Amino acid sequence: MAGPMTPLPCREDDPRLLGWYHTIELAPGITTRNAVYDLRPVVDRVGLPESMVGMTALDLGTADGFWAFEMERRGADRIVAVDIGRVGQSDVLPRYRASLPDSWGDAEPYCAERFWTAHAMRRSRVEYRTMSVYDLSPETIGTFDVVYCGSLLVHLFNPLQALINIRSVTRGLAIVEACGFDPEHDPVEEAFPDRPYAWFGSLDADGDEPGRNCMYWRFSRRALRDLMIYAGFESVGRPGRYRITGPGGGDCPVVTVTGRVTPSASPDEEPGIPSGLERSYEHLRATSHAVDRLSYELWETRQERDALRARLEEAEARLRRREGPHRGGSGRRSRPWSRLSRRFLSTGN
Ligand SMILES: C[S@@+](CC[C@H](N)C(=O)[O-])C[C@H]1O[C@@H](n2cnc3c(N)ncnc32)[C@H](O)[C@@H]1O
Repeated sequence: MAGPMTPLPCREDDPRLLGWYHTIELAPGITTRNAVYDLRPVVDRVGLPESMVGMTALDLGTADGFWAFEMERRGADRIVAVDIGRVGQSDVLPRYRASLPDSWGDAEPYCAERFWTAHAMRRSRVEYRTMSVYDLSPETIGTFDVVYCGSLLVHLFNPLQALINIRSVTRGLAIVEACGFDPEHDPVEEAFPDRPYAWFGSLDADGDEPGRNCMYWRFSRRALRDLMIYAGFESVGRPGRYRITGPGGGDCPVVTVTGRVTPSASPDEEPGIPSGLERSYEHLRATSHAVDRLSYELWETRQERDALRARLEEAEARLRRREGPHRGGSGRRSRPWSRLSRRFLSTGN
C-alpha cells in the first residue's frame, strides 16, 4: 500500500510538488504547484456546513484529498476519504482494458502517494479507505453526517447507481458536484432550464479514441437535481453552477446539488420528493393540455377544409352546368378552376 513521499518535501521549489491533481497547502509556505485544479476559490460554493464540528464526513473519489482536508479544516470529528485501491476498479471501456498490460489493473492509483504525503505534512487525522463507490453501503463503510462527491459521476458507467449508494450511506447531507454544460459553447441550460438533460461522451474531443479519458457524462442542474430525487433524497437544494479551473490546465463548468435524507424546512432547499413529483405531474398535465389543444385545432382545421372542399366542388359543378356541354367539353374555360381546386384538395390528407 502506498505511503507518503520520502523524505517529505520541505522546500517550496521541490519538483515533487508538481503534477498534483489539487492545489493543496501541505505545510505553511509549501503548496503544490501547477496542479490540475485549484479548488480553493470555490470551497464556499458547494454547500458544505461552515462548521462541521461534531460531524462525521465521507469524501468520495478523494484523489489528492483536497475535500477531505477541507472538511477536516471545518472541524469534522471523523473524516473518511475513499478512492479506488486498484486502477482496474475504474470504469474503463473494455476496448482499452483489453489493450492494457496485465499488471495495470492491480496497480495503485497514482493519487494515493500524494494523498499520504499531504496527510503526513498536514498532520491529518483523515482515514483512508480503498473502495469503489459501487461497493458503498452502510455495512461496508457505515453512515455519515456529510458525504461529499466531487467530479466522480463523469467517470462512471452508472452514475445513478453511485447516487443510490451515496444515499444509503448519508444520514444527513450529501453534496454532489459534477460536470455541467458550458454556457458559452453549449447553452443548453439557457435554452431549456427546466429540462433534465444529460450529455453523453465527447467524441469530438476524443477523436479516434472514444472514451479513452473515461469522461462519460455532463449534467444540467435540473438533471443532477432529478438524479438526487431518483436516488431517494427527501429534499434537494437549489443546484448551483460555476467553473473550476487550475494552473495545470483544468477548466470545467460544474454543477452542484445538495440532498438531505429528511424533509427540509429551509427555503433554500426547495423541492422534496412529493413536490418534485408534483411538479413533474404539473409538467405532464400542461403538456397533455397542449396536445389536446393542438388536436382540437387540427380537428377544426380539417372541418374547415372539408367545408371549403365541398363548396369548391359545388362551385365547379355550377360552372360546368353554366358553361354547358358545347364549351365545357373542351375543358378550356374550366381549367383554372379545376387546377385551383385540385391544388387545394391535394394539400389535405
Ligand atoms: C476527477 S477526480 C475528482 C477528485 C475530487 N473528488 C475532486 O472533486 O476534485 C476522480 C477521482 O475518483 C476516483 N474514482 C474513479 N472511479 C471511482 C470509483 N468507482 N469509486 C471511487 N472512486 C473512483 C479516481 O481515482 C479519482 O481520484
